Amino acid sequence: MKGASAAEAIPAVVRLEDLQKTYGGQKGVAVRALRGIDLEIAAGDFVAIMGSSGSGKSTLMNILGCLDRPTAGRYWLDGTDAANLSREERADVRNRKIGFVFQNFHLLPRTSALENVEMPMLYHPQKVRAREIDQRARDALGRVGLGDRLDHSPNQLSGGQQQRVAIARALVNEPRILLADEPTGNLDSRTTLDIMELFQELNKEGLTVLLVTHEPELCRFCKRVVWMRDGRIYRDEAVSDRVTVAAARASGDLFNEGEGP
Ligand SMILES: Nc1ncnc2c1ncn2[C@@H]1O[C@H](COP(=O)(O)OP(=O)(O)OP(=O)(O)O)[C@@H](O)[C@H]1O
Ligand SMILES: [Mg+2]
Repeated sequence: MKGASAAEAIPAVVRLEDLQKTYGGQKGVAVRALRGIDLEIAAGDFVAIMGSSGSGKSTLMNILGCLDRPTAGRYWLDGTDAANLSREERADVRNRKIGFVFQNFHLLPRTSALENVEMPMLYHPQKVRAREIDQRARDALGRVGLGDRLDHSPNQLSGGQQQRVAIARALVNEPRILLADEPTGNLDSRTTLDIMELFQELNKEGLTVLLVTHEPELCRFCKRVVWMRDGRIYRDEAVSDRVTVAAARASGDLFNEGEGP
């Protein structure tokens, strides 16, 4: 690793150098979605990514989550080169090291919460035994407060509950980082805060969280905010007025809770 030293003995969970992504280009018009991203995220951080539509947030998340690969630049995940992996290698890294949460939950319909959460373990390279799969899925659902909804399918759950199932599924293989791309975009304000509170709890337990959001009110619940524009990071700051959702609720200091965002 370039510039490695004793201080870097514990590698950052994510490290990007001059990361670039260009879509299309051979026949159509090339879109330079990422134009040189440098970013380092330490274990235990809780980062919000803000930026207007089209600024490259999802493109960045998809590369970080090994769903897509960069056109140029370097990406180390957990100290390992993750920029130039094959499709199979990316699937493996995704399964072992990444938890991904989407705006639209991406749950399997007509499938119970328990089975949805068991899914990633069925693809885990180290075969997990059936009893352990079941237990770990139950534990994960308990952790997100859904221990009493194991048999419910997505259409029998509220939006917030569906997102909790998706978070449990993202956690079940104990990822190095949780990537959440507008996870509260389809939720009302109250449920949004519930989900933010859950992220804060998970982060407190040591989980590294990276959250894309359009809602500036959510930044103060995070530890750090990164702003993007035109495929570049133009601001990257620690949150100075950080609060817990619980404290904000107790003081009544909240945006229109109960209203849609
Ligand atoms: N698969 C693709 N093929 C071609 N261009 C794409 C593709 N995905 C995204 N883009 C383009 O790349 C740019 C960045 O898109 P991206 O989805 O990363 O933005 P975003 O910041 O997530 O926006 P939003 O806030 O609307 O979700 C946009 O100009 C978009 O049109
Ligand atoms: Mg997006």
